[in-house]
Amino acid sequence: MAEVEHNFEEVKKNAGAFKLPANFKDYGEAGKGFKWEDHLKEVEWFGAPDLKNGSINAAYNAVDRHAKGWRANKIALYYEAADGRVEKYSYAELSALSNKFANVLHKLGIRKGDRVFIFLPRVPQVYVCFLGALKLGAIASTLFSAFGPEALRDRLANSEAKMLVTTLDLKKRVDEVRAELPALSCVMTIDKPKPVAQEGSYEDSEGQVSYEDEMASASSEFSIAKTGVNDPSFLLYTSGSTGKPKGVVHRHGGIVQQHLTSKWVLDLHDEDVYWCTADHGWVTGIAYNLLGPLSVGATCVFYDGRFDAETWYKIIEKYRVTVWYTAPTAIRMLMKSGDELARERDLSSLRHIYSVGEPLNPEAIRWGMKAFGLPFHDTWWQTEGGAMLITNFPSVPVRLGSMGLPFPGVQAGIVDDEGNELQPYKEGNLVLRPGWPAMMTSIWGDQARFDAYFKNGWYLTGDKAMRDKDGYYWFIGRADDVIKTAGERVGPFEVESALVEHPAVAEAGVIGKPDALRGEIIKAFIVLRAGFKASDELKEEISKFVKTRLSAHEYPREIEFTEKLPKTRSGKIMRRVLRAKEMGLPTGDLSTLED
Ligand code: PRX
Repeated sequence: MAEVEHNFEEVKKNAGAFKLPANFKDYGEAGKGFKWEDHLKEVEWFGAPDLKNGSINAAYNAVDRHAKGWRANKIALYYEAADGRVEKYSYAELSALSNKFANVLHKLGIRKGDRVFIFLPRVPQVYVCFLGALKLGAIASTLFSAFGPEALRDRLANSEAKMLVTTLDLKKRVDEVRAELPALSCVMTIDKPKPVAQEGSYEDSEGQVSYEDEMASASSEFSIAKTGVNDPSFLLYTSGSTGKPKGVVHRHGGIVQQHLTSKWVLDLHDEDVYWCTADHGWVTGIAYNLLGPLSVGATCVFYDGRFDAETWYKIIEKYRVTVWYTAPTAIRMLMKSGDELARERDLSSLRHIYSVGEPLNPEAIRWGMKAFGLPFHDTWWQTEGGAMLITNFPSVPVRLGSMGLPFPGVQAGIVDDEGNELQPYKEGNLVLRPGWPAMMTSIWGDQARFDAYFKNGWYLTGDKAMRDKDGYYWFIGRADDVIKTAGERVGPFEVESALVEHPAVAEAGVIGKPDALRGEIIKAFIVLRAGFKASDELKEEISKFVKTRLSAHEYPREIEFTEKLPKTRSGKIMRRVLRAKEMGLPTGDLSTLED
């Protein structure tokens, strides 16, 4: 039995207004002659809609335009804490709270373009702070709450973050590296700091402010920044195969694509209750837990519990979730728990189910059909892409194992290393023509790394894929060393850097090892320093070291000690050789290997 009564009265009254006009039935129809320009009026602009020079604010589109109209009292967000506590926020409430937060930021000296970081567990303040920062014209960035001091330092230092919102508990990890973050002028905690012994407030003593106190005295009126279409809205760090994580910068204009994909792919209507299980530290959490679905006026569920099959099904039943967006590892975990659990619950509300982040195996789709009576629709995109790019549409039959078709307006191709387009069924590099609305605009402070994405007029995705004769794309693998573990993108260099900080580790090479459940797991090959003896205890200690310093999801689950690592003559670790050896495959050309 569903326990939550949705306030859809307004929705029903406004039936004329909420019917989506052009929810296409046929992909070919929508794809034909599609021009982004014809769809810019889907969202609200300040002045003329113009993808090159217009003024638009993503937060205004996500929340405020709804708060001004008939959706004001519609639930924008149901929040369920891990302990079962439920909070709900209407569009009007989200608008007022994010206005307050924008005022707080301004009072604290944050200005347009300043970086505001959100390092929070799954709490409603994520929405308030993110939207508030965008309203001010500041650049919002979210961090996984699993991050340890090193991961935090890399990101906060690289972006010269000025402000961080966190909890008292998570703040301790920032404190460890605070001395290396001179630009960080303000740390705010959403839970109240304990009073400090000395005279004066906690502000004086630690440069730390309380969210609660500041919000209590802030006005809920705010004049939203009329940001330019190219003005940065959010910044998310992600990994490549070399170097530290890169800050992928997105623009306010990206809301056009987040909006259209929420409508045409997720097929979100006003009566829908939508649940995206992605964390807000990941681009999916931002584009499809926040900006896109809110922009189309949906009712979203935000659940703070860990993965647990029984609880997940309860959430679907309790909120009568109609559209559900999750990831292959979670689907495989649900599969493992058996379909009995799914059958015990009333999941008949589900209308569409989607997946993103890693290859979705046909087996998982078949299981979805059995357990939910629906196929999972795979969607392919990337942090840099800002929104769905290649997807299975609800209006098109699913081809099991295919990522689907390019979203209208997205031009994809398969090319060889010289940039020549390849024939159907030929494996090659998956590339896209630059210029889709949600495409990143830069890599923070690193023009060279941004430029490296583009060659011969194409944007290089870093993925290998093929296309069939009907234009469907099929994922083959990464073209580089990037690891995908449980959907999370991990750069081997970051893990290697953390490993060599351990006193026992002389050198480390890190790869993704295929894993039936997680897609890949992180495996480290380690050369020990003289005087250290290989043992299981040492493996465990090193693993824990990375887990606490770097991140609870970016540590090696498997460690192998080795005498020597395969390297190029210039000293670069050849991860492909490690990978091939691990999988018992030929190691390929070893001519650059050192003697
Ligand atoms: O390798 C592809 C894989 O995830 C990469 C992007 O990771 P990230 O930036 O974390 O963004 C994921 C969420 C948008 C891609 O280059 N990937 C993503 N979706 C799929 C996928 N691999 C196979 N199938 C997918 N549907």
